[in-house]
Amino acid sequence: MSLLIKNGTVVTEGGMQRANILIRGRRIAALTSSEPNSDRVIDAEGMLVIPGVVDPHVHFRQPGMEGEDWVTGSMSALAGGVTTVLDMPNTRPPATTKALLEEKQQLVELQTASSALVNYGFHFGATSSNVGEISAVGLGSAEGEVSGGGRRIAASVKVFMGSSTGDLLVEDPSALRGILGASRLTTVHAEDEAVIRERCDQPDHLSRRPKEAALSAIRKLLQCRGRGGVYVCHLTSAEEIQLAEQFYREATPHHLFLTDDLMKKIGNFAKVNPPLRSESDRRSLWESLLEGRIDCIGSDHAPHTRLSKEGASGAVPSGMPGVETSLPLLLDRSLRGEIALERVISMMCLNPASIFGLRGKGRIAPGYDADIVLIDPKEERTVRADRLHYKCGWTPYEGLRLRGWPKITILNGAEAYVDGVFTKARGGHVKYAF
Ligand code: DOR
Ligand code: ZN
Ligand code: ZN
Repeated sequence: MSLLIKNGTVVTEGGMQRANILIRGRRIAALTSSEPNSDRVIDAEGMLVIPGVVDPHVHFRQPGMEGEDWVTGSMSALAGGVTTVLDMPNTRPPATTKALLEEKQQLVELQTASSALVNYGFHFGATSSNVGEISAVGLGSAEGEVSGGGRRIAASVKVFMGSSTGDLLVEDPSALRGILGASRLTTVHAEDEAVIRERCDQPDHLSRRPKEAALSAIRKLLQCRGRGGVYVCHLTSAEEIQLAEQFYREATPHHLFLTDDLMKKIGNFAKVNPPLRSESDRRSLWESLLEGRIDCIGSDHAPHTRLSKEGASGAVPSGMPGVETSLPLLLDRSLRGEIALERVISMMCLNPASIFGLRGKGRIAPGYDADIVLIDPKEERTVRADRLHYKCGWTPYEGLRLRGWPKITILNGAEAYVDGVFTKARGGHVKYAF
């Protein structure tokens, strides 16, 4: 089967061009100004045509937790233009062994057997005592163990330096040093548990987990790093971005768009780790992004049920959903002229695919997988939880008007989402290039 997407404005990291895309099977065969024969044609006149988003940071909550599953998670991703997700390990049980990662993959395939499924990969969960498994999941460091290790089945080794949802926590610097030394690529939740503990009787969430907790964790990372790559999740201010200069750096849409003030409006629905910060921090994060100091946008899609968010304050879990709104939030800014479209595409498609070594992802170019999103830049829509696909049923962006919504999402060469309707086109486990 071949498919031609014609007359669209194709956005790649190199710029925008009017071009036709020929897809054969699951791959892009050509980017051309001619109109080659094809079995089917989609006319993308007036549309932006971008690579499918790679969201390197989602929590789809399986196994063992509420708030999301792989059916609703996949639907949310595809409707938000996300064609690949990398899922975090803080589930019940956490994904801390090769066997548990393999079981998780079986669960994902089984759970979505009769629905759409987004392309996916998993991060592996580090503990103080499972360093030995790092080479078993194929992430052993270049210093030695790669050849003796297993086939790579994880996107990275994830370390929680501060406690959050679930039980994963690595506090001890020597354990941290051991993990960073053993792992080729480590993803870090950088908030220092020691600082958080000192502040535990502070009155509000932001002062219990201040910026100093993040800065202190990054300092420890600088001391403990090995030769492998380090990816620091959800940085919230220019100070952190600067301190983490030697690492890969991620920002979330919620830290780019929301501030601590939101707690006054929606209470603990706005509780997240690290916390939403002040307007001046938020602004400094945007400036860092505009200066090119942020490598990736990760949604940190962390859905919790309404019921759990309405509970008594101390016990309310941290996290907010976001996989379906990340692309429209960033594209909306871009369509207003605040940031170049090519930069958005680099941070949301190309960079995550290349940092995590996802073969065939992140680009519209011959030979790459045909994960492609068509956007009608004129269509403005109001964010409403009942129009999104989250199992948790709420969004912190309720009522916001945005342009930049996907009209069609193509997954491995097949339409998976068309004008609000899902097909059964299925993605699968990603392949790692190194
Ligand atoms: O707010 C958060 N929620 N931060 C995390 O690090 C974990 C996440 C979750 O899994 O709920
Ligand atoms: Zn985190
Ligand atoms: Zn997270």
